[in-house]
Amino acid sequence: MQREQFERLKRWFDDYVSGHYVPGDEFLNNNLRLKECHTRRVRGEMRSLSAALSMNGQDAVLAEAIALLHDVGRFAQFKTYRTYKDSRSENHSVLGLRIMDEHRLIDDLPTEEQVIIRQAVEFHGAKELPTMDERAGHFAKMIRDVDKLDIYCLCVDNYRLYHENRDAFVLEVEFPDSADISPYILEAVLSNRLIDYGHIRTLTDAKLMQLGWVFDVYFDWTLRQMRDRGYIKGIARWLPDSEPAQRALGHVQRYVDERLDNHDHSTPRNRSGN
Ligand SMILES: [Fe+2]
Repeated sequence: MQREQFERLKRWFDDYVSGHYVPGDEFLNNNLRLKECHTRRVRGEMRSLSAALSMNGQDAVLAEAIALLHDVGRFAQFKTYRTYKDSRSENHSVLGLRIMDEHRLIDDLPTEEQVIIRQAVEFHGAKELPTMDERAGHFAKMIRDVDKLDIYCLCVDNYRLYHENRDAFVLEVEFPDSADISPYILEAVLSNRLIDYGHIRTLTDAKLMQLGWVFDVYFDWTLRQMRDRGYIKGIARWLPDSEPAQRALGHVQRYVDERLDNHDHSTPRNRSGN
């Protein structure tokens, strides 16, 4: 993708997003701002990952376009339903594809790039990636990694704000704040299995599910950022002191350390070793 094509998408995006804010509706505006800032940071992380993977300029721009568009469905989702929960509204990735179609956003790109962007957006938040073409799969893995990386960063800040002063917390809290852990969640984390969002019952479940994302990180670069920037610790500090919670955390930390320490630190590699 050419830089000018990206710049055109970026101008459309800024315009589109700013049209969703409503003066005086701070609950809406705070939540929209969260995703607008998330998108900006994910673009930055994507540029860093492209550089770490030594990708060429045009592919790096394509990756950044995917970062720009991956959550484009979030703005209409929150404005319509006032929640980011897909289960109580609609799948925001599919909604994003529909918005891209309605606005004919990527129609002028080569077909191969259209397919890569569409698949990356469609599957960025899916529990697992389906089998796909290797090149499309590469971009889909990248957005899944950097999306998780930024959500970790957000969680560190938001869990701290929430736990330090619940009354002043302005964002949607999706689950009841309980130290209880569902047996399914504990079992899944301890066996490196990914977790369906539908199984989460408590905020502690949600924290463990997020920590369990490390099993789905493709590139060692991403995993190293999660560990070395203190994101894993920053989420873990809000887990209860209970034996199951600490056992799950220890398991996650050992997995991360073993994977990073077993690899050559100078070369980014993904989890299948290529
Ligand atoms: Fe998303």
